[in-house]
Amino acid sequence: MDSVGPNIDAIHEPFQRSERSPEDEMISSYLRNRSEVYGDLVKVQDDGWKNPEAEAFFRGQRHRADNATQKIRKVFYKMMRNIGAELNAASDGALELRNSNPWVLDLCMAPGGYTAAVLDRNRDASVCALTLPQHLGGHRIIHPKDTGLQVMFEDITMLYKEFGLTDIPQDHPNLLKFSDKRWWYGKEFDLIFCDGQALRTHEPNIGVYGRQVEALRLNVSQLILAMQRMKRGGTLIMLLHHMDSYETIKILRVFDEIARIQLFKPLLSHMNRSSFYLIAKNVEPGHLEAVVAVNEWKKVWKDLTFPVLDEDGQALPPKIASEPEVVGEVSDLLDTLGERIIELGEPIWQIQKEALATANWTRRKEAMDSEQDGTVEASAAAIAVHASEEDLDNVGDADDMETAPVLGKASKPPAEGPVDSADMSVAMQSLDIDS
Ligand SMILES: C[S@@+](CC[C@H](N)C(=O)[O-])C[C@H]1O[C@@H](n2cnc3c(N)ncnc32)[C@H](O)[C@@H]1O
Repeated sequence: MDSVGPNIDAIHEPFQRSERSPEDEMISSYLRNRSEVYGDLVKVQDDGWKNPEAEAFFRGQRHRADNATQKIRKVFYKMMRNIGAELNAASDGALELRNSNPWVLDLCMAPGGYTAAVLDRNRDASVCALTLPQHLGGHRIIHPKDTGLQVMFEDITMLYKEFGLTDIPQDHPNLLKFSDKRWWYGKEFDLIFCDGQALRTHEPNIGVYGRQVEALRLNVSQLILAMQRMKRGGTLIMLLHHMDSYETIKILRVFDEIARIQLFKPLLSHMNRSSFYLIAKNVEPGHLEAVVAVNEWKKVWKDLTFPVLDEDGQALPPKIASEPEVVGEVSDLLDTLGERIIELGEPIWQIQKEALATANWTRRKEAMDSEQDGTVEASAAAIAVHASEEDLDNVGDADDMETAPVLGKASKPPAEGPVDSADMSVAMQSLDIDS
């Protein structure tokens, strides 16, 4: 299967525009006509898409994220811990568990910032975690080991019994990678994180499925496991991307029915990305909508994991809906949920739009365009922006997370020798969390 192509690098990109499915195109067009913020975001994304400097920036970031040093990993861990604090503050204490001796499940846990953020606030919490082993490309755990934490190293997308299958076809290319384990079966958790991010480094899955399909397999795998362990009234926190995509909106629709939801986009980092968190409180795992959704996610997992092959051995798309079917499905969704999507999405789009609009490459492009117009003010602006190229060289000391600023804001010079600013920007912005 020829899966390792240009699409892999494009997935979850801030400028991913040219690959919209017909469903996503319909949704985007609906939103462009009704939300000014969304329309502005699409414009900035279009400009970024055409800007080779922006493309080069994200390409470099991806490369360095795949080759992170231990120092960068520690920065990423602290960053995640701080994002946990920010999330908690923004959500009326979603991480402050009200019952005594609460149970927490951290899916895709490494390096462990969220686990730390939970333990910072609930000394009596028991945390169970599952994360991709390093030999399969997973991140390393930084979290201290003396906290009673129970970690299972598994590829969550291969837990076939959890997803309702009893055996695996003997000719499957990943046969030996499947696991029949059902971790914490019968246990109920008060708080569950689903913070998985499909990694470019995750072979062999990327090679077999392609990154786009792998991202979907990962999402449904986390959702199934989470909902089969969720305590009634518990909280689920999930990393999602592209608030304007059909797949994401379908997930939001389910949780809007079975829980009290809120969306959160950290201001600490990843502002220029499409990523955000769903915070679903008071989840009703026994709700009919939840039961139907889990069954649907199991079917999606199965269809994606065991695709029908054509005569050349290429995977056929799991669902080939006719155009009228697609139009009907999406129209229904927009009729019932359109306003709600805008209400939930605008704060997210606003943050991303502002971050992209003030990115160095955008300002530099604007200044250069104005320079070509020949105005004096434009030249001054160009000089100011050229000077800001040094922003990236002043991003703070990697060991000093408290003072490390968001990308693009100048800070104190490094204390001991030069900090690798490019590496630092990777840790602050990405480390594959959202690239
Ligand atoms: C965004 S990071 C999680 C950060 C973490 N929540 C924290 O607070 O430090 C994404 C994680 O997903 C994990 N991951 C990716 N694919 C996975 C898979 N198939 N199974 C289990 N974990 C996976 C990665 O190894 C990585 O640890």
